Amino acid sequence: MTHADIIDVRGLSLGAVSAAAVERFDALIDDLYYYRLGVQDRLDALLQEFPEFVLAHVLKGYSLMTEGTLDAHPKARAHLLQVEALPANPRERLHQEALRAWIAQDFSARAAAWEQILVKWPLDLLALRQHTGTLFWTGDKRYQAEVSAGVAGHWGPQTPGYAHFLSAHAFAMEEVGDYVVAERCAREALALQPQDLWALHGLAHVFEMQGRAREGIELLSDAARFLNDYNLFRGHLWWHLSLFKLSQGRFDEVLDLFDREVYPQSSTFYLDVQNGASLLARWERLAQASVHIPRAIKKLQELAPNVVWWRNTSQPGQYMATQEAVMAMDSSGRMNGMLDKGVPLKIVSFPAVIGHQQQREIIVLSEVIDEENSEGGVYARVQARGVAASSWW
Ligand SMILES: [Fe+2]
Repeated sequence: MTHADIIDVRGLSLGAVSAAAVERFDALIDDLYYYRLGVQDRLDALLQEFPEFVLAHVLKGYSLMTEGTLDAHPKARAHLLQVEALPANPRERLHQEALRAWIAQDFSARAAAWEQILVKWPLDLLALRQHTGTLFWTGDKRYQAEVSAGVAGHWGPQTPGYAHFLSAHAFAMEEVGDYVVAERCAREALALQPQDLWALHGLAHVFEMQGRAREGIELLSDAARFLNDYNLFRGHLWWHLSLFKLSQGRFDEVLDLFDREVYPQSSTFYLDVQNGASLLARWERLAQASVHIPRAIKKLQELAPNVVWWRNTSQPGQYMATQEAVMAMDSSGRMNGMLDKGVPLKIVSFPAVIGHQQQREIIVLSEVIDEENSEGGVYARVQARGVAASSWW
């Protein structure tokens, strides 16, 4: 078999690796998007065995950049340097380009590379999930919906991994307010894989946006049976369950969920911080008459030291992440402390779409580190308490 004959489970050709290695890679991709445990260890083992596996290096680079911490950058760059020296086909080159752009913080170039892949190879699941996932984080929801809708005609029940397309499309449609299509796709994905956390998440969003708290509680209480068998993304589903209960005024239950599942131990992982800070900020706001407010404030203060400020790092575009950081900062008094110390802060704003065709201005507070390049500043939301009760993500 020549290299050109080696194809993945969806028929896309790969460069110089063995068919057996590609089979393992396909399984890894499947497990990655099902949020299963142990994927990174298996990817490391695959790379050790097949150091010339271009897309495995790229996947490792993407995974490292997703961590969103500065020390991940040199590690991701090392994988990029290795693949740049390897033979690669045009699709693999475009993946390298996306990784290069990501490390360089050029999000437009990153999106353009994945876009080119999907135009030519719409069944490239890695490009589809990375592209739609990062567009969500940068707030480009309409673009996200266009991407998944753009490839929809190429995916069908016979396509291996169809559930991964369905769950991505469900969330993209929900984010632009097409709740009917979103719910249908999420339920179809769940029929294929009942423990698909991304499909559960998309359906939970539909329920949240339509005020269907009872159904949301039913869905996620049932998922509670298996959630903790999955990776840290599970914390976000516990967070969604907490939101549904919060909307029913079940404040004590929500604090218990916070303690046991949403933020069970001190964590610097950005998703944990987001889930924890935003839940408590909502709790504090909604449970105004409750005697538990001091407890929530104390918890926010405990969480605050784990807040990560994004300084010229991998996720300055993650405005949704930084808003929760500010909630914790605000509660701890650090924001006022910064102002008192004369830290140069400036307010910038940008438009965003929230929910169905709703336009709202988002205010961000930017610490100006370099006057010549204010993009190097620290981005953080102000007025975080004011938007804390909205169903954002
Ligand atoms: Fe969510």
